[in-house]
Amino acid sequence: VRLYDIPTTLKDDAMTLVCGELLGTGAARQVYVCAFDPTWVVKLDTSRGKFQNVREWAVWQNFKESAADKKWLAPVGCISDSGHWLMQRRTTPVSLIELRRLAPRVPKYFTDLKSANWGLLDGVVVCHDYGMSLHEVASGTKKAEWWRAADEVQS
Ligand SMILES: Nc1ncnc2c1ncn2[C@@H]1O[C@H](COP(=O)(O)OP(=O)(O)O)[C@@H](O)[C@H]1O
Ligand SMILES: [Mg+2]
Repeated sequence: VRLYDIPTTLKDDAMTLVCGELLGTGAARQVYVCAFDPTWVVKLDTSRGKFQNVREWAVWQNFKESAADKKWLAPVGCISDSGHWLMQRRTTPVSLIELRRLAPRVPKYFTDLKSANWGLLDGVVVCHDYGMSLHEVASGTKKAEWWRAADEVQS
């Protein structure tokens, strides 16, 4: 029996090895703690046709070549063949106050500074949702206008 011959029920069961607690949801993804390594998350793309996981993976492939740029992004580890599943380094939640203190300026290519899309990795502010809101051509930095969505819990 090879992978593609395994019954769907057993494939469902295999996901319990990979996905732990549901950490968060957004318009496009469900995000789980990686069951076998809590320093990673597993992102399921639930959007229809927005390909957020694929875009995030592609942005990471470009940015990881630049030390100055990659430090702003939570690294992507791998993506499944169809792009529905992606693994990314897990960040810890960051408050608006911390964002304003730790990152008063950000590169101009970040177009959406909603706090839920950012976290801390080794004490550094990083973006963990960069599938959509990047203008890769813009260079230089700008004053950061951090904001929190009304439905977001205070941290
Ligand atoms: N790398 C990560 N580490 C920890 N939590 C994350 C990570 N990525 C996403 N999350 C959590 O899951 C939520 C949804 O993920 P996100 O990437 O923003 O998906 P969407 O594209 O649907 O907005 C985030 O707001 C955040 O709370
Ligand atoms: Mg998001």
